[in-house]
Amino acid sequence: MEKLKIMGGQPLNGTISISGAKNAALPLLAATLLTDQPVALGNVPALADIDSMVSLLTELGAEIEPVKTLSTMAHGPDIGRCYEITAATLSGSEATYDLVRKMRASVLVLGPLLARTGAARVSLPGGCAIGNRPVDLHVKGLAALGAEVTLAGGYIEARAPACGYLTGGRVVFPLVSVGATENIMMAATLARGQTTMVNAAREPEIVDLANCLRAMGAQVSGDGTDTIIIDGVEQLHGCSHQVIADRIETGTFAIAAALTGGTLTLAGGRADLIETVIDLLRQAGVAIDVGHQGLTVSAPAGGLQGVDVMTEPYPGFPTDLQAQIMVLMAVANGAAMVTETIFENRFMHVPELARMGANINVHQSSAMVRGVPQLTGAQVMATDLRASVSLVLAGLVAGGETEINRVYHLDRGYECLVEKLRAVGADIARHSGGDDADNGGPIACPHH
Ligand code: EPZ
Repeated sequence: MEKLKIMGGQPLNGTISISGAKNAALPLLAATLLTDQPVALGNVPALADIDSMVSLLTELGAEIEPVKTLSTMAHGPDIGRCYEITAATLSGSEATYDLVRKMRASVLVLGPLLARTGAARVSLPGGCAIGNRPVDLHVKGLAALGAEVTLAGGYIEARAPACGYLTGGRVVFPLVSVGATENIMMAATLARGQTTMVNAAREPEIVDLANCLRAMGAQVSGDGTDTIIIDGVEQLHGCSHQVIADRIETGTFAIAAALTGGTLTLAGGRADLIETVIDLLRQAGVAIDVGHQGLTVSAPAGGLQGVDVMTEPYPGFPTDLQAQIMVLMAVANGAAMVTETIFENRFMHVPELARMGANINVHQSSAMVRGVPQLTGAQVMATDLRASVSLVLAGLVAGGETEINRVYHLDRGYECLVEKLRAVGADIARHSGGDDADNGGPIACPHH
């Protein structure tokens, strides 16, 4: 029964440490199933989704130990949680509906389980607030590696062919899919022969996963481009790997600085992972300095300018920052057309922002945002992870108090959000109460 209360108007000033990327840590955790040796992962963010994946790996038979620090620090500060995961003997190869419905990324264990054990039974994730989220490309990709895949009773049942192992193949994705690229890449590392993946996703989280797979002995090349080539090997071994910084968290806090009129240094933030975002923010008038410790973002002296935004697969503008940039445009001078090309229903934040006085008109996959002088605080409802944080951003800049219900969405993807914002001057606090079922309350914040 958790909600957030925010009193708007405080400029944010100071330094925020950027956590490890949720969308890198989730596939990295799934990849540990590919070997019976220990894999140490550092800079793992403290998030509900991570806890869900850890529970799933444990249910599958992996042993997971929190460890103090990584033996070899790849780069950057030693923050976040470190785990050592050993999937020596897998007691199961099934991800049940109850687990998968809570966290769609559980489908990422499909490829590793199939490659390691020759069989996998994973619940179809089902849709979520932002779209029906099919997994047909995951299924087709695994079938191209020789797997026999059937959909029965809401489950994906996959097994290796009679020979007992997957064989390399050519996988051409009709559209760019991050998860399908990750699933097939992991499965292909243990397939016999070469796999070529065409029209693969190019996200930094894919490159981070490929770096970890190579450290485990996999032969992967082309990651970060639209063609990835993998030569299967007999088996993989353990490694130490540090999760890359979260580019979506970095973009979110950069927008927070631009909105509230302050200056934030985002320590550990990787400007090279959000070049499109930085270009767009600079067009809107935001001052951004890139240093070796991260990036420093200040609100524009002359006010914000509306700029059109279109979400695209990496390196285009990320869909996971669409709700957040819309808040910036809602209080900018002029108008901005925000077009969502990745998901079919990712404007749930619009009606909530409208309740705070935003002037936004949605027409199919585009939203025309006309800047208003100020938003006003209101009671609002979080609907999905990134929509939730856009309501926090709106509350930070609105006049008066904003109350956000269903904050469990936030706990899925933002480590220590309230603590990080309070530390740079935000008037924000978490309260019990609110209208959602108790979702286990906040994750303990390891840094504060
Ligand atoms: C990943 O989801 C991210 N999640 C999402 O972040 C992110 O929004 C998305 O990539 C796009 O960048 C994780 O990495 C855990 P997709 P994913 O497969 O892999 C369609 C967040 O807020 N599609 O790239 O599920 C799909 O419906 C989350 O952190 C198929 O049609 O996204 C969508 O329209 C939200 N068939 C498009 O492709 C498939 O088999 C892109 O989806 C798979 C996807």
